[in-house]
Amino acid sequence: MKTDHSPAGLQAYRGELLYFTDDPALSDHAYQWHEDGLLLVEGGLVRAAGDHAVLAPGLPPDTPVHDYRGRLLMPGFIDTHIHYPQTDMIASPAAGLLPWLETYTFPTERKFADQQHAAEVAGFFLDELLRCGTTTAMVYCTVHPESVEAFFDASEARGMRMAAGKVMMDCHAPDYLCDDTDRGAAACEALIRKWHKRGRQMYAITPRFAATSSTLQLRLAGELAAAYPDTFVQTHVAENRDEVAWVKSLYPEARSYLDVYEQHGLLRERAVYAHCIWLDDADRARMAHTGAAAALCPTSNLFLGSGLFDFARADAMGMQLSIATDVGGGTSFSLLQTMNELHKVARMGGSHLTALRMLYLATLGGARSMRLEGCIGSFGPGNEADFIVIDPQATPLLQRRSAHADTLEERLFALAMLGDDRAIEATYIAGTLRHRRNGTT
Ligand code: GUN
Ligand code: ZN
Repeated sequence: MKTDHSPAGLQAYRGELLYFTDDPALSDHAYQWHEDGLLLVEGGLVRAAGDHAVLAPGLPPDTPVHDYRGRLLMPGFIDTHIHYPQTDMIASPAAGLLPWLETYTFPTERKFADQQHAAEVAGFFLDELLRCGTTTAMVYCTVHPESVEAFFDASEARGMRMAAGKVMMDCHAPDYLCDDTDRGAAACEALIRKWHKRGRQMYAITPRFAATSSTLQLRLAGELAAAYPDTFVQTHVAENRDEVAWVKSLYPEARSYLDVYEQHGLLRERAVYAHCIWLDDADRARMAHTGAAAALCPTSNLFLGSGLFDFARADAMGMQLSIATDVGGGTSFSLLQTMNELHKVARMGGSHLTALRMLYLATLGGARSMRLEGCIGSFGPGNEADFIVIDPQATPLLQRRSAHADTLEERLFALAMLGDDRAIEATYIAGTLRHRRNGTT
């Protein structure tokens, strides 16, 4: 663990500022950009963000000013779907989702019955997120309560705002990963009571997917979601054609895969559904109407050959969207790399995603999906000061391409296509420096 440099008083950070106030697809005034900007942070919160020329004269004379001129300061990235226990099996070769789960995922997750192993992986995982500029994530643990304890301990030690939960699965998986249905739900409730809203930790009710939960388990998950309405819900839906057919055979009476979840009370605000590839418009309308959000996982969808997310239909139906890595189905921890592939997925469907929209999805879009706007994902006064310093000169190629950009969009687009962990110069958590590239904090 890195040491804590938590500045007590007012701190000022000078650089180019960019943050969002709305979805650029919906508004022409969706972002704030200050070429020579100043971010004021006090007590872990944003106090103000604006032009240096406007804010600097009002600063008390002894205010420390951290000079990040030439770099871009943004709210930390929010990854709305990721599996920490899959860190050690990222980039495993398999012919699609279901063989990948059986051959690599389940045996790897088995090891998380051991809390010490879980703690070691959780520490590496969170440090990797920090290196990539991700400050909040919605995280799957394993079926073992020990994996959740280890994760929240590690997140709390770093001061990070994280949502995580014990995976619920009680059928169609190896015995060693299956819950006792009632005891599993009781374990989830105990974890909610212990961890939900303890400091910055938040609980996510996590049925793995409809295929590995009995109807009783989905019902118990829905009851928890109703009893604790400010917890999160996270699961997978309509990722892969074979999976969709499997769920259809298990729940023949449901109108659709998504409908299985709706029938069990799992479609609501603060529910984040990964993938959403093989939905129809009735499903999309239900997501938009209930306030459930989609987590788009392009590196995973391409890697596992699952399919291409349909932006045009999602936007037409008004779905709330966010972006996610889905490690270890996804192939990178970096949301910049993920934007690169998101853009290509959109292109294959005839849509164009601007860099501004992709950066929105990775910040305020994620916060809105979690109903955490006003808390994280932007630089409005009172937001928690999770922010990143991005270096547009991080590599020779990025430097060269940035120098040839004529507009802000072109420059940001080059960053989204060419950037990765190397572009993250520093990551601050609630005003505390937690990662500095090529150095210790
Ligand atoms: N569906 C059920 N479990 C998983 C998982 O671990 N990863 C992905 N990508 N899809 C799933
Ligand atoms: Zn996943």
